[in-house]
Amino acid sequence: MKKNKYDLSKMIEALPPSGIREFFDLVLTMDDVVSLGVGEPDFPTPWHICESAIFSIEQGLTSYTSNKGMLDLRSKIAHKIQKKCGVAYDPEEEVLITVGVSEAMDVVLRAILNPGDRVAVIKPSYVSYSPCVIMAGGVPVEIECFPENGFKLDPSDLEKECKKGLKALLLNYPCNPTGVSYTEEELKTIAQIIKNYHLLTLSDEIYDSLTYDFEHTPLLSFPDMKELVIYLNGFSKGYAMTGWRIGYVAAPREITGLANKIHQYTMLCAPIMGQFAAVEALRNGESEVEVMKKEYKRRRNFLVSRLNEMGLKTFMPSGAFYTYSQISSTKLHAKVFAKDLLMKKRVAVVPGTAFSEKGDQYIRISYASSFENIKEALFRMEDFLKELK
Ligand SMILES: Cc1ncc(COP(=O)(O)O)c(C=O)c1O
Repeated sequence: MKKNKYDLSKMIEALPPSGIREFFDLVLTMDDVVSLGVGEPDFPTPWHICESAIFSIEQGLTSYTSNKGMLDLRSKIAHKIQKKCGVAYDPEEEVLITVGVSEAMDVVLRAILNPGDRVAVIKPSYVSYSPCVIMAGGVPVEIECFPENGFKLDPSDLEKECKKGLKALLLNYPCNPTGVSYTEEELKTIAQIIKNYHLLTLSDEIYDSLTYDFEHTPLLSFPDMKELVIYLNGFSKGYAMTGWRIGYVAAPREITGLANKIHQYTMLCAPIMGQFAAVEALRNGESEVEVMKKEYKRRRNFLVSRLNEMGLKTFMPSGAFYTYSQISSTKLHAKVFAKDLLMKKRVAVVPGTAFSEKGDQYIRISYASSFENIKEALFRMEDFLKELK
């Protein structure tokens, strides 16, 4: 490879830029854009959650916390997991508070991987997964999911890769970008493979509270999963708290111990105001989550039906707040579709290529935007499609 001017990291230089950021840098330079692009709730954080952080500041509680995070928060998280999954974690040693699930993912991957370890990444996936594996010295093994299978992981594809040797699996459901989730029956098969091949599994369940058609089943809730499943979750999506930057890891102490070593040297701790806010979210936030979820479901039903009417084939996502819509009828590449739609009609969506090399016939549309915005964006998209004919 050509030597760069400062002889900087070749590994980082070789990473592709995020397909989302690239696109949204352009959106930021434009007026009058209706954005169905970003994956962040349009709701403000519920006020009592904000108030608890304000109150902590008023009391002068503006310091570092323990590296692992406030014990009160870790205990509440351990209690919530015990209730949801029937698995006990020691809040002193087995729960780590991080700067969002983003940092959780990074410190865990760095804690578990040795150079060259192979990690399965289920595609299409959240943009950070493969780059995080590479930055941790691992090798992403991308397993594609196909529309014929409803964009669900085919367990036999996972098993094939296990036979070739896999250190870990990165699983996310409900999934960003497809909105796909798995039923208890489907997860049972995946859990069995995890067990058979002793596959360390990072289960990113950040959208778990946003499942619309059936109950979310945590992977941890299957027998003997505690040893193998590294549970990642956070406050960004369900509680509309993206800017507070609070996530967490629950895992066996050997893993959280090493993850915390990285966390203490690089991050020190998650922000204390966010941690106070998270405590309040766990204490009193569930009713607001339910209200937001109801509204997301209403938007999803409307959006999916209108997209299909317009000729953009869209299956019903069972969770998160995205549709993964097929644009083959337009004969445009996803990047061209997204750019033309933005330039001509001022509507922002994300090309599927941001999430998978095979995403050139798909766009991701976020319905974490008001009903009015969604309606307006759909009118403009309809015009755009008419003009293509
Ligand atoms: C699947 C998934 N995991 C993790 C994250 C990052 O979440 P956080 O805000 O907790 O860092 C996102 C954000 O979009 C996501 O979609």
